[in-house]
Amino acid sequence: MSIITILLLMNLFIETSVSLTVLVPGDPVVGHVGSAVILPCWISPPENAEALEIRWYRHDQFNNTVLLYNHGKIQDVQEESYRNRSSLTLRSDQSGGLNEGDVSLRLEKLTLQDEGSFHCYVSGESAYGKEEVLLKIKGFGSTPVLVPKLLDDGRVNISCKSSGWYPEPNIKWTSVDGRVLRPGGSSHSRGTDKMFSVHSWMAISHSDAHLVSCSISLRTGELQESRIDVQAIISSGPWKALFLTFLICALLGLVGLFLYKYRDRLTGKNPADPNLRFVFILVVEDMTIEELRQHAVEITIDRERLHPDLKVSQDCKTVRDSADYNHTGQGFPYQLCAFGAQRFSSGRHYWEVDLAQENTPPKNYWLIGVMKDGNLTARDRSGLTPSNGSCFLCSDGPNGFHTNTDQSVKLSLTPRPERLGVLLNYDDGQLSFYNVKERKHLLTISSRFSGSIVPLFNPGAGDLSPLKIMDGPNPVEQAESSQPLLSNNSADT
Ligand SMILES: *[C@@H]1O[C@H](CO)[C@@H](O)[C@H](O)[C@H]1NC(C)=O
Ligand SMILES: *[C@@H]1O[C@H](CO)[C@@H](O)[C@H](O)[C@H]1NC(C)=O
Ligand SMILES: *[C@@H]1O[C@H](CO)[C@@H](O)[C@H](O)[C@H]1NC(C)=O
Repeated sequence: MSIITILLLMNLFIETSVSLTVLVPGDPVVGHVGSAVILPCWISPPENAEALEIRWYRHDQFNNTVLLYNHGKIQDVQEESYRNRSSLTLRSDQSGGLNEGDVSLRLEKLTLQDEGSFHCYVSGESAYGKEEVLLKIKGFGSTPVLVPKLLDDGRVNISCKSSGWYPEPNIKWTSVDGRVLRPGGSSHSRGTDKMFSVHSWMAISHSDAHLVSCSISLRTGELQESRIDVQAIISSGPWKALFLTFLICALLGLVGLFLYKYRDRLTGKNPADPNLRFVFILVVEDMTIEELRQHAVEITIDRERLHPDLKVSQDCKTVRDSADYNHTGQGFPYQLCAFGAQRFSSGRHYWEVDLAQENTPPKNYWLIGVMKDGNLTARDRSGLTPSNGSCFLCSDGPNGFHTNTDQSVKLSLTPRPERLGVLLNYDDGQLSFYNVKERKHLLTISSRFSGSIVPLFNPGAGDLSPLKIMDGPNPVEQAESSQPLLSNNSADT
């Protein structure tokens, strides 16, 4: 009799001590490096958890705490690597929160080290329950950077690089008509952060393909793609003097659509994932604005070679269309060109141009680039072709942004640059544009420069703000200025 009673009692005890049921999703939760993720965990049937102990921990070690909630508040005892990164959250919009038993964990700024299992442990006075949530981490890498090099046999060697991937991504080259192209070589490498970088190259001739795309993707479908115009690189006739190519590194709308379509599949229940925005950011290069500015040069407008409908400031730094200029023609006023007084025939040179005055929106119309010295007249767009030795990025208001190649290639640059950085790399034949405020590389035009090159500016017509060249390291002295000179040596600051 007594034995049975004891057994019954034991049974009862065991029953109550495991009667708290904790539920978690059956499938692994997916998070992206750098973003946040929710690890759902809840008590069933719902029960107020405010008075319970909630502990999230890792590696099967109770004391390896990600988050501890006890005595009605979160305790400051977590592992250093989770400090300021973990919090309790709602598993969905419909969740009643802690007082309905939702003890889900939000983890921010994910790193690869966060991959693996997390234990959700909930304990009351006489019962506890625990479950394990598996977190899978993915890295959605950078937009591929395509760099073309013209080979002696007339083909172009295109290199495609991208970094920040996890797990190991696939590389695929295609021509725009859909044919898969075989790369000449591909390699993967892992950085100290354990993320994958990829580099692939292929040598291609004009007859092989016209527009070539390099796309890098994860097995689950997320992909980044860049395209390059091979025809624009390999051209003959008047083009011989200057080989122009593009790095059109815009994430294509196609990619955005793809991600949109599969967003649920890709991210589970996390529609706010930052990787799913429609991005039109171009390449993010390694060079910082500070590094660029080490190549800064002082640029002024050459008054002698100015279009008569342009007005230039006393210090030759600001140019705009004159007030009585009436732009009647169709499209962008290509003829309104101004040129830098400085000439370059080697090395790297960097300058910045302001496209927005304080409290005004950025300019809608501008054209900025370089031009071969000696060709300094432009009556219309035909005067600004690669064969005339010009190379530029143009903002044509609602018509968007374009560069000057044979084929009109349009880019979406959002937000509109307020200040544009221009890096002329004469020796490597590259002209790069940067959004200074956003600290982003926008695009690079590959070219072959010969002879001397001058900066090219066109302020467009009808904008509120003028186009203003920022001071280089050694601003020009205002020799003929009629204004009183201001002292800048004030000792009282
Ligand atoms: C947790 O406790 C175990 C055993 O007491 C110990 O070996 C381990 O280092 C502790 N871990 C942490 C993160 O404190
Ligand atoms: C956490 O946040 C506090 C306050 O915002 C800050 O002082 C502390 O340095 C942060 N700790 C870590 C590890 O980031
Ligand atoms: C193309 O360029 C890559 C480097 O980007 C180089 O490794 C490869 O050998 C080049 N191929 C040819 C055919 O020049």
